[in-house]
Amino acid sequence: THVVTEACIRCKYTDCVDVCPVDCFREGPNFLVIDPDECIDCAVCIPECPVNAILPEEDVPADQLAFIKINADLTPKWPSITKRKAPLPDAEQWKDVKDKLQFLQR
Ligand code: F3S
Repeated sequence: THVVTEACIRCKYTDCVDVCPVDCFREGPNFLVIDPDECIDCAVCIPECPVNAILPEEDVPADQLAFIKINADLTPKWPSITKRKAPLPDAEQWKDVKDKLQFLQR
């Protein structure tokens, strides 16, 4: 599967959802996740993300490993998103900020 990591938090650009052929993105208040049971590892979403938040599971760096479980855990709680929408209003201010896990709204 592919995994949405920390860079998405408080940005949520949503360019990724427009290209997903299996509609596997789920939307929370300030983050998206990928349904690990639906993702077919096509990788087309990776270059769409302006903050490079999406990675194949095997390439998730050590400091982002918690996001594998976060994507799986939040998938059943959040609704599907299949069409791009405006990013969060202050996305530009947050796009280069590190340690955003504390801001994740579940
Ligand atoms: Fe998030 Fe990047 Fe998609 S910021 S919503 S993973 S385009």
